Amino acid sequence: MENRRNFLKASIAVAAGASGVILSTQSLANSPAFNMPAGIVYTKENPGKWAKKIGGHAPKVTVNGNKITVETDHGMSSKHYIVRHTIVTQKGEVLAEKTFSSDDEDAISVFEIKTDEKQLIATSFCNKHDMWAELFTV
Ligand SMILES: [Fe+2]
Repeated sequence: MENRRNFLKASIAVAAGASGVILSTQSLANSPAFNMPAGIVYTKENPGKWAKKIGGHAPKVTVNGNKITVETDHGMSSKHYIVRHTIVTQKGEVLAEKTFSSDDEDAISVFEIKTDEKQLIATSFCNKHDMWAELFTV
């Protein structure tokens, strides 16, 4: 049974490699919350089909004490905008969130977070280019 499992894992990895799909990201590979197939969460290290969209979608995180600023350098229009930012633990607990409107001028959120976690994940969701994540140190 174990051999069969290993065979299946290896087959999936080979198939993923052959198709250019990466199943988990390098920096988030050990994070249970984001150890999921490409095509659900994108990162600047593994942008998948959105390789040309990194600059406008990967969230940029600045930490200053308890203050965490998340910025997505993306335009905001009624047809195409950043919908949401979240701060999430690696176990998947949402610590903070902000939902944007297409009328917002920019996709910047500021959170005051007190946590014992050493590393958190910021997410940014575009209505056309899916969810992006960035692992950062607090
Ligand atoms: Fe977008």
